[in-house]
Amino acid sequence: MHAPRQSADPAFRGDVLAGLKAPIPAIPARWLYDRRGSELFEEITRLPEYYPTRTERALLEEHSADVARIAGIGDAVIEFGSGSSTKTPLLLRAVAPSAYVPIDISGDFLRDSAAGLQAEFPDLSIHPVEADFMRPIRLPAAVEGLTKLGFFPGSTIGNLVPRTATDLLRAMKDTLGEGSWLLIGMDRTKPVDVLLAAYDDAAGVTAAFNLNLLHRINAELEAEVPVDAFRHRAIWNDRMSRMEMHLEAVRDVAFRIEGESFTFRAGQTIHTENSHKYGLRDSRLLLRAAGWAVCKEWTDPDDWFALILAEAEPPRFAP
Ligand code: AVI
Repeated sequence: MHAPRQSADPAFRGDVLAGLKAPIPAIPARWLYDRRGSELFEEITRLPEYYPTRTERALLEEHSADVARIAGIGDAVIEFGSGSSTKTPLLLRAVAPSAYVPIDISGDFLRDSAAGLQAEFPDLSIHPVEADFMRPIRLPAAVEGLTKLGFFPGSTIGNLVPRTATDLLRAMKDTLGEGSWLLIGMDRTKPVDVLLAAYDDAAGVTAAFNLNLLHRINAELEAEVPVDAFRHRAIWNDRMSRMEMHLEAVRDVAFRIEGESFTFRAGQTIHTENSHKYGLRDSRLLLRAAGWAVCKEWTDPDDWFALILAEAEPPRFAP
């Protein structure tokens, strides 16, 4: 027996062991993003079948100026995530904020992308904050008194179940404060064949992204999961209005992780990701439930993706 690996993140270890023991085996989707997983996700965003990234970028190209006209120019843009994508410059160019605050839990990623943006916008004052944005955050003093425009692109909100998504949107409102705005990308419901292709592409990149979680378990934990005993499955769950990723056992399989034994029968799955898709009224309701009033929605001609601008609702009595 080997000694436990010192480098293992205890939260990863805990989530994997607890998740695989659960009655419906599941591992939180955030663990898909180690270095290799993040590279594979970048590759997914360029796939012909994966419409969200290019559709949202096109919406930002077309409508960032409208955002600036409605929400105002020159105040502070607060991005939830590190702003490493090509979308952030589109918004920054239109809004011309006096300050930009990227918030991310990964300090290294945050500093790299902040440095990249500083080179592109030499006059912009950038204040990176290393924090978990699932909870309200105290923003840097430099943006005190400025109107805040929160930016949460990528339809990442869809990876949370609605209860957690509402908690996050409420935390964002607490972070940004009264009179603030939120520009958020949300993926729409659409024909199921389009969704299935987007989450199970012909080149197999999404499959590799999903299966990489098992490689990560083997690399970071004391584990010997036979990766070839599992395959990627993308499923549309209509009742929950979401795409789901699973790792399905292709045969009966037994393995050990950190000294604990696990068995999977052929056909049993490990649930690894949810990606919720929202109709027009669903997205409005989700935002309203967290105190955001939708001001404007821009969508592509197919209505596959929505870029939504919402305003923080002042607390008031209602019947
Ligand atoms: C990051 N997130 C918005 C992606 C999505 O579409 O839910 C992650 C992803 N999973 C499979 N493909 C892409």
